[in-house]
Amino acid sequence: MADKVIIFDTTLRDGEQSPGCSMTTPEKLKVAEMLVELGVDVIEAGFPITSPGDFEAVRAVAQKFGDRATICGLARCRKSDIERAAEALHGIARPRIHVFLATSPIHRQFKLKMAEREIVKAAVEHVQLAKSFCDDVEFSPEDAARTELDFLTEVVEKAIEAGATTVNIPDTVGYATPMHYFKVISHLKQHVSNIDRAIISTHCHNDLGLAVANSLAAVEAGARQIECTINGLGERAGNAALEEIVMALKTREDYFGVVTGINTPKLCSASRLVSSITGMLVQRNKAIVGQNAFAHEAGIHQDGILKERTTYEIMRAEDVGFVGVNLVLGKHSGRHAIRSRTVELGYQLDDVQVENVYRDFIALADKKKVVYDADIVALIDNRMNVSPDRWKLVRFHIAAGTGTIPTATVELCDESATASVVPSDAAADAQPVRPTLRDAAIGDGPVDAVCKAMERIIGVTAELKDYQVRAVSGGEDAQGEASVEIDYLGRRYHGKAVSTDIIEASALAYLKALNKAVSERPSA
Ligand code: KIV
Ligand code: ZN
Repeated sequence: MADKVIIFDTTLRDGEQSPGCSMTTPEKLKVAEMLVELGVDVIEAGFPITSPGDFEAVRAVAQKFGDRATICGLARCRKSDIERAAEALHGIARPRIHVFLATSPIHRQFKLKMAEREIVKAAVEHVQLAKSFCDDVEFSPEDAARTELDFLTEVVEKAIEAGATTVNIPDTVGYATPMHYFKVISHLKQHVSNIDRAIISTHCHNDLGLAVANSLAAVEAGARQIECTINGLGERAGNAALEEIVMALKTREDYFGVVTGINTPKLCSASRLVSSITGMLVQRNKAIVGQNAFAHEAGIHQDGILKERTTYEIMRAEDVGFVGVNLVLGKHSGRHAIRSRTVELGYQLDDVQVENVYRDFIALADKKKVVYDADIVALIDNRMNVSPDRWKLVRFHIAAGTGTIPTATVELCDESATASVVPSDAAADAQPVRPTLRDAAIGDGPVDAVCKAMERIIGVTAELKDYQVRAVSGGEDAQGEASVEIDYLGRRYHGKAVSTDIIEASALAYLKALNKAVSERPSA
């Protein structure tokens, strides 16, 4: 039987740590739910000591999913970090504390100002402390790839002696190359006397674009846990991409001789969810989950594929849950067709969600000649609101053009306000109405004016950090997907929305980001 490689996902910790990718607790719970469905073995849910929000998020993920995956919390070699991680994971079936301490000469000299002896002592003491809270303890010598091999060997051996059950060998700065990293792991396998008592893990950053290659080289050398993130999210150039690692191991099982427990048809929906929540768009030619990953443009390739798929395809699109831009539905397609299509696209929607997507589809089919799979996916993502929005867009009007001052009038509804039935409408079937607020603003352009008018109503001023619009599918009447990132009180929030009108898509995306920001505002 092939060996199993443990998939350790750190999207919620290393991924979330990267600029612009912060997630709210409900968003983290949604991602964690998807990771569990994907079959990830270990979920690193966060770094509990860093803030009360991080602590709460780890705790919430642990409480909800602690019996379906190992939930891990990160801690420096400090008593308070380890105690906080233990507290966040308390009471769950499969807790793991991940303790780290830098070991490379650069980090020892400039960051820690600690001698080798002090590093070993601190590592041992803190692994022992973590062990007093739970059996499953992971130790990471940070910047291992730039650590002297003899010293690394000693630290790893002492950490295992102190109780570490997983020893992770991080390439913190993405410095390693595949053969180099292979040699590091092989050295540890040969020279750490108690290495058979622990799993060797990889944690590769992508600064040289080698994170996946390095992780795979480590597997060849005997590593049996890979730390990775959905879409390769993570500090700077990111971490090793989970979907690439998993599909490389699956497609080349003949070569690696190992398996993972990942439910690969869920990979594309996992990628879309993370992209939609963090606002980090997936490049079109990204391996496995990019829009072009299974598109064959060249005539020679198309001809080959038609004769025999394997001439130019090493994986089947359905094995990764890939959604192309096929023409699927027309204006007269009914609810049933929409429901089956959403299932085929990998979503499990309840009746209310199907009804919402159906209504959006009908509205879209009125405006657009053809509706593609990608449109359906965009409509579903658009409805996938993890945190309830307080402010809803009722209507807006803009005046813009050459020689005019871009002006917008906006009406928003405050969903948190008490709804009332107007006396004259107080018939038995009258729907309670929530109050709406209106305001107007001028801006640099129509989008800016709408955003400023919404800010005036809500009473916040945010700074736009990133703004992108893309066509969801082909054709002149394609839906526009707007993605914005704002800074509010030093935190980044993201919003995404689709519409055939890109000003509306932009306004809705901005409003989503503002809703997230105000939901975290202390007085909200
Ligand atoms: O890159 C790194 O070294 C890390 C450690 C905390 C494992 O993220
Ligand atoms: Zn890292």
